[in-house]
Amino acid sequence: MTKTRRMVTAELGNMDAVCEIIDARIPLSSRNPDIDELTAGKRRIVVLNRVDQADPDMTKKWAAYFRSLGYAVIEVDAKSGAGVKQFAPAVRALLKDKLDAYEAKGQVGRVLRVMVLGIPNVGKSTFINKVSGRKTAKAEDRPGVTRGKQWVPVDRTLELLDTPGILWPKFEDPEVGIRLAFTGAIKDDVVDIEELAMRLMDYLGRNYPRAIFERYKVTAEDGDDGWALLQKAARRRGFLISGGEVDTERMSRILLDEFRGGKLGRFTLETVPEEPS
Ligand code: G4P
Repeated sequence: MTKTRRMVTAELGNMDAVCEIIDARIPLSSRNPDIDELTAGKRRIVVLNRVDQADPDMTKKWAAYFRSLGYAVIEVDAKSGAGVKQFAPAVRALLKDKLDAYEAKGQVGRVLRVMVLGIPNVGKSTFINKVSGRKTAKAEDRPGVTRGKQWVPVDRTLELLDTPGILWPKFEDPEVGIRLAFTGAIKDDVVDIEELAMRLMDYLGRNYPRAIFERYKVTAEDGDDGWALLQKAARRRGFLISGGEVDTERMSRILLDEFRGGKLGRFTLETVPEEPS
């Protein structure tokens, strides 16, 4: 991470703007906690990615929130490519005064440079590939594996800097870890599946009860927490083990798989802060 930080700092002076890719389902937890400090003073564009998986109403609220912080924002499904066409115009609008100044000096056609940052698995490679038409396979991005920086042209006067190295999310906050695990950004083998599924069920039961009912035919009656809902869902599906006990582990895996696979619907797991922070 220190190496990545150093690289970001070293390159920043050559950049016109910084683009941060965020997972629209977890717009806070999918951010690197140092990014604001690292990129201080730079124009910023936020790509709310995975909007196909997020709650559309919440995505609008998050877009408004990031705009209120002074960022340009676009909403994207990088996998299908929906929304990526907004990128170049949004960057040019963000840098309009700069472009006007270039034009006044007769420097028409000067290339704009944008550094792209994002935590692992947020969809950074997919986004860059879609926005640029780049065909290359994803470069290795593991600790210990070095790769150079890559300039990726979007069009004749807009270039992206695909940053090597890894910017981690805020792992030290356990809530952040849980949300990243819900979405599958963290591997299941580092978390307790039943604990995770129970917490997800709890959140969905409180915030999206209809989706839970439609998929598992369970409702949260008075006092039903995530664990109770998980047990009910397991019973409904007939997941029993010897002695009439319900197989909550099996149900947990199914809930997480179906949630991540979009079978339950589109969800956003974080709400916009009351006051911009
Ligand atoms: P990274 O560079 O930030 O680490 O992430 P990457 O682009 O490799 O994307 C990680 C996974 O997320 C990929 O799936 C990719 O297809 C998927 N993805 C990226 N953006 C979106 C999006 O907007 N919507 C949806 N639904 N998925 C997205 P994968 O399973 O690893 O690969 P593949 O089977 O899709 O090729």
